Amino acid sequence: MLWIKNVTVIDPSQGMSGINDVLVQSGRIVEVGPKFKTQEVIAKLGLMDIKEVNQIDGEGKYLFPGLIDVHVHLREPGQEDKEDIASGSRAAIRGGFTSIMAMANTSPIIDQRALAEFVKLQAQRAGMAKVYPVSAVTKGFKGQELVEMMDIRDGGAVSFSDDGKGIQNPEIMRLALEYAKLTGCPIISHCEDEALAGKGVMRRGQASARLGLPGIPASAESVMVARDVILAAETGGKLHIAHVSTKESVELIRWAKGEGVDVSAEVNPHHLLFTDEDIKLTDTSYKVNPPLPSREDQQALLEGILDGTIDMLATDHAPHTWEEKARPFQEAPFGINGLETSLAAVWQGLVKPGKITIEKLVELWSVNPSRRFGIPGGTLNPGAQADMIMFDPLYKEVITTDIMESKADNTPFLKKELQGFPVITWVEGRMLMKDRKIFKDNQSLI
Ligand code: DOR
Ligand code: ZN
Repeated sequence: MLWIKNVTVIDPSQGMSGINDVLVQSGRIVEVGPKFKTQEVIAKLGLMDIKEVNQIDGEGKYLFPGLIDVHVHLREPGQEDKEDIASGSRAAIRGGFTSIMAMANTSPIIDQRALAEFVKLQAQRAGMAKVYPVSAVTKGFKGQELVEMMDIRDGGAVSFSDDGKGIQNPEIMRLALEYAKLTGCPIISHCEDEALAGKGVMRRGQASARLGLPGIPASAESVMVARDVILAAETGGKLHIAHVSTKESVELIRWAKGEGVDVSAEVNPHHLLFTDEDIKLTDTSYKVNPPLPSREDQQALLEGILDGTIDMLATDHAPHTWEEKARPFQEAPFGINGLETSLAAVWQGLVKPGKITIEKLVELWSVNPSRRFGIPGGTLNPGAQADMIMFDPLYKEVITTDIMESKADNTPFLKKELQGFPVITWVEGRMLMKDRKIFKDNQSLI
């Protein structure tokens, strides 16, 4: 049993922003309200003695429903040198994420029910963040034949995506959206036209010309967003656009929502915080797909967030080994490691300077992901699972390989200091991280 006192509770799911006390029992929220007295707590929890309760002072800190990340690459099975389900789900807990969705571009690809069940089983064994598998849309990511969508959904997949690759054949995408009406699960589209993207390694523009690197035009993304929102309109299927990074994509999604299309969209923190001007030939941690945007595109992403066109933030946590990222810029793999740095980076880069409110942050990273993908969480309502984080806006940390739980260190924040971190993470009332350290082997406090 847990009594958190004097904490600023931010829960947009019930319009709550203010100093409150929180009571948790048997892994669920009992009550959130102003300043409880000891006698009241004893009565509400049906106790003999207040000593049975773990009391935590939350003064100066925030309490949010646990963040939900709909876009994470955990690399297991098959690429455990980059990350595995245990290390990735520990990294999630350190980063404030109580639930994450694991992408299917593993080896083998998650395109069968048994593989989705394997991901869930490994996550249960790890006992950290809750992991929801995303299944491939097409067998082997070949873009030709749909997977057995109903069966894989029954095995635990909450969504379908060939993320890492765009589905090039429009008829396959159309069919997938038709089936999305049967499964009830959104299709997550990685919008990338391969013919337009070519062998580009960063956004095409002045910065790529200056560095002499082959560019990916913004249209490589936007033309596929246009195709997919039109297909979603025609079929009525549920569509989610991953890692939106261009102005035209935002405008197309805004238009589609205006037409009543069942579309949602995410933006990754790195696209909001860095631009193509930040890319250094010598630092492949800035190499990501879709590539870092122009300043103008970045501004459009922020506007999309503020007017509700963009529904959520997602890290696109993409761990790679040091050796792979040590290759020359053109040869290194795309991807940024994000689980343990993203909340602090967004706090520091967007919330502190007043670009988005703290309520908006929680809506984007907890409430909306939960609602769109039907994942439990996203609320501190009485009766809800106590998935929650205590966030300290003053906590500073230098990001180093030593302290990170992720196996990989491909982040532009390496060796840099960030401010604003979760200091406690609870999953279903179990404290899994305190003072930035994970409780391993079920040593968790209650
Ligand atoms: O940068 C990226 N990395 N973008 C993707 O679409 C895939 C991801 C990965 O799996 O490494
Ligand atoms: Zn991805």
